[in-house]
Amino acid sequence: MPLKQKSTGKLISFEGSEGSGKSTQMARLAKDLQAAGRSVLTTREPGGTEIGEQIRNIIVHNLKGDEMTPETELLLFAASRAQHVRELIAPNLTKGVIVLCDRYLDSSTVYQGVARNLAADPVSQINRFAVGNAMPDLTFILDVPTKVSLARIKQRASDLPDRMERENIEFYEKVRAGYLLLAKSLPSRVVVIDGTQSEEAVAKKIWADAQKVLKT
Ligand code: TYD
Repeated sequence: MPLKQKSTGKLISFEGSEGSGKSTQMARLAKDLQAAGRSVLTTREPGGTEIGEQIRNIIVHNLKGDEMTPETELLLFAASRAQHVRELIAPNLTKGVIVLCDRYLDSSTVYQGVARNLAADPVSQINRFAVGNAMPDLTFILDVPTKVSLARIKQRASDLPDRMERENIEFYEKVRAGYLLLAKSLPSRVVVIDGTQSEEAVAKKIWADAQKVLKT
């Protein structure tokens, strides 16, 4: 389904490793924007729609998940995203809503492209096909050293780690390097924030950068 309508809302995505604090910061920005009278929708990937949540279960919690090829993984994330954009994100942007998304197409560029070693061109084409013209207006990458990220995952893991969380340290080093490289190549959209700072300091920086985009 082509996405032709011009949107009036803004799409802000949050990216980073597991344990980088992105979900906490996204919830905080949503609360602060709502308190300022803005209309906000928070959502996440993979998931965000009923179909997307079913796809999420296949990818993240599948007992046979370890047999999943990187190509299959890429296409499943893209399928969830294609549904998410058309069912939820684009209609809300058209209504003027500020959409905050916990992970979006950059996760595929980094996790499937860089960390799982899939070629950059098909990953980028599949990403584009999935999102249509619903590109983020602004993307925050919360950057923390891999050791910090892994320690935070262990700390919060109340139940068994999921399939992605069982990956080794090299995988997460690649994820981190992939995000930093991506940010360098897209300086007008992507902002890297040092996630080892206090929650307060990170929130302040996010608020300031978001205001710049929301004014335009
Ligand atoms: P989730 O439990 O949402 O992790 P987090 O709280 O860190 O966001 O699980 C999503 C996992 O899927 C996470 O390890 C990142 C991965 N992922 C990809 O590999 N590619 C993608 O395109 C997306 C959206 C997520």
